This record gives sequence, structure tokens and C-alpha cells, in this order.
Amino acid sequence: MHKAMVHAYERYLKEVLIDSDAVQARVAELGAQITADYEGVDSLMLICLLKGGVMFLTDLMRHIAVPHEIDFLAVSSYGRGQRQATGKVRIDMDLTGEVTGKHLLIVEDIIDSGFTLRFVMDVLQARHPASIKLVALLDKPSRRKIAIPVDYTGFQIEDKFVFGYGLDLDERFRNLPFVGVVREDAIRHE
Ligand code: IMP
Ligand code: MG
Repeated sequence: MHKAMVHAYERYLKEVLIDSDAVQARVAELGAQITADYEGVDSLMLICLLKGGVMFLTDLMRHIAVPHEIDFLAVSSYGRGQRQATGKVRIDMDLTGEVTGKHLLIVEDIIDSGFTLRFVMDVLQARHPASIKLVALLDKPSRRKIAIPVDYTGFQIEDKFVFGYGLDLDERFRNLPFVGVVREDAIRHE
């Protein structure tokens, strides 16, 4: 690939916030903790929120030694720009399987206002699972508008718009192995 293409993200990057080694180390720790907590559970299902949770899921599941299923749920907030949440969330793509009676662990990239997770947890709760817990790679507690119990958090971060490791900048750069802060002048204000 041409060098200019490989480094296309650099003009949007203010700084690397969490480098690849730190992400991987923390993901391994979370996996070990989850493994210990779910020891003996035989109906664990990881529910990955698309699209941002994909890279986190695929790394995290390699560190979860408890047998488990995976499934995917795509939701979107509508009437929002990158920085404003309206609280209106809808399902774009539902799970493929049943969750009744199963122990669910929601795998999310980042929690901001909390509206997305509130909606997802309510939808799943209505299907009568055995339990619901949440693991988020990143958490911006200062942005919270609605209380959400986060069972496992990778990193708490300040109120900065970040990208990489599953998180997009206008749908691109989810493949970066690190979490970077977006340069202010590169954010499209909507
Ligand atoms: P919430 O409903 O406000 O908690 O929003 C959560 C969703 O907003 C996440 O799943 C992300 O898709 C998106 N989001 C929030 N903050 C960021 C960010 O800093 N970078 C990229 N996406 C973000
Ligand atoms: Mg998302």
C-alpha cells in the first residue's frame, strides 16, 4: 500500500491516548477478570454492539476462558451529531439468537451520555435473560446524562473525542490498534 494511504489518519490525530500495548494489556486483564467471575456459568453470551465494539470483542473473547456464544446488535442514535445525544435510539440490526435464560455480557466501545446502553439494556431485559452485565473499553463519566451500571471498564477518559480500536471518525479508522484523540479542527461540528 502507498505510504500516504497507510498514514492517512495522521492529519486527524492530536495525540495517541492509549497505545496498542496498553490496550492489549488491559483487555487481557478484563478477560481474566470476566473468566473468574463467570467460572462455572454455562450460558454466557457476549453481545457486541456494532460497529464500534467489534475490535474489542474479538480481542477480549480470546482472553475469556469460559465457553460462550457471541451475537451482534446494531443500534443508532438518531437526531444526533457527534457531540449531542438526543436519547432517541433504535435497533438497526437485531440479535440472531434467543437470549432468554442466558447470562449476557454487553461489549461496548465507549459510554458517553449512556442513552445507547440504557436503551440496549431495557430491550434485552424485556427478553428475560438470566443476567445482564456490561463491559466498556472506554468510559467518559463526565458526559453521562443517565446512570448506567458499568461492571467492567477498560479506561476512564476525559471528555475528548477519540478514534481508533473500533471507534470511527466519520466511519473510518476503526482499524487503528490504538485509541487516539481527534484534533479539534478535524471534528465536523453538526
Ligand atoms: P451514548 O449513547 O451517548 O453513550 O453514546 C455511545 C456511542 O457514541 C458509542 O457507542 C459511540 O458510537 C459514540 N461515541 C461516543 N463518544 C465517542 C468518541 O469519542 N468517539 C467515537 N464515537 C463515540
Ligand atoms: Mg458505537
